[in-house]
Amino acid sequence: MKIAVIYDSYFGNTQRIAEAIGDTLKADNEVWVSKVDSCHLDMIVGHDLAIFGSPTRAFRATKELKAALVASIKADPKLKIAIFDTRADVAKIDNKFLKFMAGHFGYATDDLKKAVLKSGGILIGEPLEVYVVDSEGPLAVGEETNAVEWARKLIELIK
Ligand SMILES: Cc1cc2nc3c(=O)[nH]c(=O)nc-3n(C[C@H](O)[C@H](O)[C@H](O)COP(=O)(O)O)c2cc1C
Repeated sequence: MKIAVIYDSYFGNTQRIAEAIGDTLKADNEVWVSKVDSCHLDMIVGHDLAIFGSPTRAFRATKELKAALVASIKADPKLKIAIFDTRADVAKIDNKFLKFMAGHFGYATDDLKKAVLKSGGILIGEPLEVYVVDSEGPLAVGEETNAVEWARKLIELIK
């Protein structure tokens, strides 16, 4: 299968998860991993699966990542899509306002899921939610392993 993994990342956490997913799937598939600002729409179209990952910033995905996802669906409506995000563990932050806002507005994958459904895209599997420890990371313990497991299960869904 031809698989594209497209991510955005400020501090490297989402990149690490994208690379872990890519490395896992490379064993049996043709996979490339790219930061969103280094990839062109033509590179995504025609793949069997495109996996999009974004850090959660102000309760949403980054504009660039979301725009690339929507443009990919428009260009190739049959493209299968999977999504993941990284996020702070708001439950562990002592800030009632932030907890309320996160509960109300959600995280990057909520934003991306809405964008896929609104664009008529084909969402495969459940979104992967990855926690970072502080606001800029690092990844919480076990999150890379969870991502590897998620990628393995995801691929079973489209075989
Ligand atoms: C300006 C800013 C806004 C953020 N907003 C949120 C947010 O709304 N919800 C959340 O869970 N985490 C938030 N975070 C934490 C990010 O999700 C975290 O930095 C990101 O997952 C790290 O991924 P990256 O290293 O790939 O950029 C924010 C962090 C920054 C610096």
